[in-house]
Amino acid sequence: MAAQETLVSSLVTVNHRGQIDPRPKEMAGRLGNKHSNQTVCMAEDIYFEGTSTCILIAAEQGGPRILYWGKKIPIEDARLTGMMHQRAPAAGTPSIEESIRLSPTMASGFVGMPGLEMHADGQVWDVLPDSVVVAEQSAKSASIRWRDSRHGIDLEARLTWCPESGVLALDHRLTNDGDRCVTVDWCCAGAVPVSSHLDLVTSFHGRWALEFQQNQLSLPTGAFVRESRRGRTSHASFPGLVMQEGCTSESQGEAFGFHLGWSGNHRLIAEKLNDGRIQVQMGELLLPGEVRLERGETYQTPTLYGSYSAEGLSKLSQNFHDFVRTKLLREVVRSKPRPVHYNTWEAVYFDHRPERLMQLANKAAEVGVERFVLDDGWFLGRRNDAAGLGDWFVDLAIYPDGLGPLIDHVRSLGMEFGLWVEPEMVNPDSDLYRAHPGWVLSAPGIEQIPSRNQLVLDLTKAEVTAYLFERLDALLTEHDIAYLKWDMNRDIHHPGNDGQAVTHRQTLAVYELIERVRRAHPLVEIESCASGGARADYGVLAHTDRIWTSDSNDAIDRQSIQRGASFFFPSLVLGAHVGPRTCHITGRMLSMEMRAATALFGHMGMELDLAEMTEDEAKTLKNAVDIHKKHRSLIHSGDVIRLDSPKYANAFMMASKDQNEALVSYAQVGTRAATTPELLRLRGLNAKQSYQLNVVWPQTDVGVALDQLDHLNGMKVSGAVLMSVGMQLPAMNPETAVILHLSS
Ligand code: GLA
Repeated sequence: MAAQETLVSSLVTVNHRGQIDPRPKEMAGRLGNKHSNQTVCMAEDIYFEGTSTCILIAAEQGGPRILYWGKKIPIEDARLTGMMHQRAPAAGTPSIEESIRLSPTMASGFVGMPGLEMHADGQVWDVLPDSVVVAEQSAKSASIRWRDSRHGIDLEARLTWCPESGVLALDHRLTNDGDRCVTVDWCCAGAVPVSSHLDLVTSFHGRWALEFQQNQLSLPTGAFVRESRRGRTSHASFPGLVMQEGCTSESQGEAFGFHLGWSGNHRLIAEKLNDGRIQVQMGELLLPGEVRLERGETYQTPTLYGSYSAEGLSKLSQNFHDFVRTKLLREVVRSKPRPVHYNTWEAVYFDHRPERLMQLANKAAEVGVERFVLDDGWFLGRRNDAAGLGDWFVDLAIYPDGLGPLIDHVRSLGMEFGLWVEPEMVNPDSDLYRAHPGWVLSAPGIEQIPSRNQLVLDLTKAEVTAYLFERLDALLTEHDIAYLKWDMNRDIHHPGNDGQAVTHRQTLAVYELIERVRRAHPLVEIESCASGGARADYGVLAHTDRIWTSDSNDAIDRQSIQRGASFFFPSLVLGAHVGPRTCHITGRMLSMEMRAATALFGHMGMELDLAEMTEDEAKTLKNAVDIHKKHRSLIHSGDVIRLDSPKYANAFMMASKDQNEALVSYAQVGTRAATTPELLRLRGLNAKQSYQLNVVWPQTDVGVALDQLDHLNGMKVSGAVLMSVGMQLPAMNPETAVILHLSS
């Protein structure tokens, strides 16, 4: 279908409220019930087809809705699924059961949570479409607009389908074409009906230094609602949900995954209506009055990303990973191996001494580091976290000759140089704040809530972003800097500008500032960090290249953090560092073997005092870096396969797409009651192919009797045996890990 506006066109039967009856017209006549058959109109459906899934969207007069999303079936069958949903009204219910549309409206009679809530001084609350057009349609995208001509309100649903990954991107644009200024209270990015048997909700929550923890609940009648009101994506509420059956596992069964790509406030809804239907809705949580549309103005929602898998949860993640790798990340970054990082934070904190940093750079180069990142503490007055933010000038009291000598030294060792910044923040104890106390977000008459001694700059003010861009641009122009770690270290409690809430505008302004820096310095890579993983989402990832997964480098906690994050993020964007022997955050002491085995499955790095390591530790770390580099392309481009693991272990694989090669990681995070671990059964291999097993980790006997792995080392065995019988791992101490390589 050409990209042009078409009136709704194929023959369907609808009732007077626009409810579709997808039966062929002649059948509709015979089988009519209270839910159908009043008029016949022209309607159009949109069919997206992927390798194993498909979606059918009906552009009905009542507004577009997803008629079918699931296993790939022919379009004719997908059309008929609507008929399979037909049911007579239950006793005591209205004669019309309004559908779950891409944006359900209350005025249509929908009694679940609406997708759109707005008003103009109490009027214009009853918005309802009276015309629908398919404005654009292709095999990979569509735009469907509806209009409420009584109020002059237009709503456009935009869908972009990625057939290769099976990920649908959906958003809405709301335009006020009426005379009155309307206040938008809620405009969801999209609402998706989910089959009633997929009523087990997995959400991802957490706190500082323990992000991406999984939580499961069986959806009761009513709604699971989770919000972030912190002005950022947040540690507490990752904007993603998985809907599955009780029997869905990593390897089989049906599941939907949904994620909102947005770095401000959000609301996630999984609602079971009392008639058993389920909808998932996500969108930006709008503060009172923060989006008001005058005539001609438009509100653009963030994007909701969704995917379906009939082959379990790992496949769902593989879909999202393929999407991120091929659609979200920049080509310039995709085509280059991710360099191994050294980050100075946990080695020196604010104690910056150029001599010492150069020594650390020497050590970093020795263990194979490819990028040296100078963290917090290099700029004016920043001797602790109470001062300096905002003054983005090299502190000459610490670096008398500027950053040049350190950067030259790092470059001479063959490493790239990266720099930490936190542009959105200011310490009251800074020259910037003293000069411009009015540049911060605030609520007049209310004292700010202290948080890490810093306030949030108001990026909706052009003079603020002009200053920040000038500083970042100058640093990147004057120095050979390949990478920025862009941090954001507090919640925003008083997101006000001139008395009005502006989180929405602030979030867009952050994106725009990052883009401006990117446009000026396209080769500079940018990491999104917010006290660890509090700004990890596809919204920010569309403007950045890496995510700092968590401030916790505790390898045991990291196993669960990285497992949770792997639902939506591929390993190449997840920063994973080897931390100090005794974790600074949890106090847990872990071997270098365990720390390195955990970090090498992400975008690997390290942030410990390299001068303090024992010789053995340095050797082990270097070996781990070598192994990471050797298998980097597999780790970063392969399919993640999370193996169903008992509570005391975390097992997963990274398998090449051609099934010729895989890495298997088995981490024993806790204590086992049985004498011996269960057989480890693999997945995702070619049953008919023979694989050679090699034990790549650990390389010393720390907590694992290596000779008990001898029987596996070098063995050749079929994929069928590895998947159906599995293999016996040795008794391992808690907090140890084994990594195997399989090649055909
Ligand atoms: C945040 C980051 C850390 C580090 C510090 C520096 O907490 O998450 O990695 O950069 O800030 O202040």
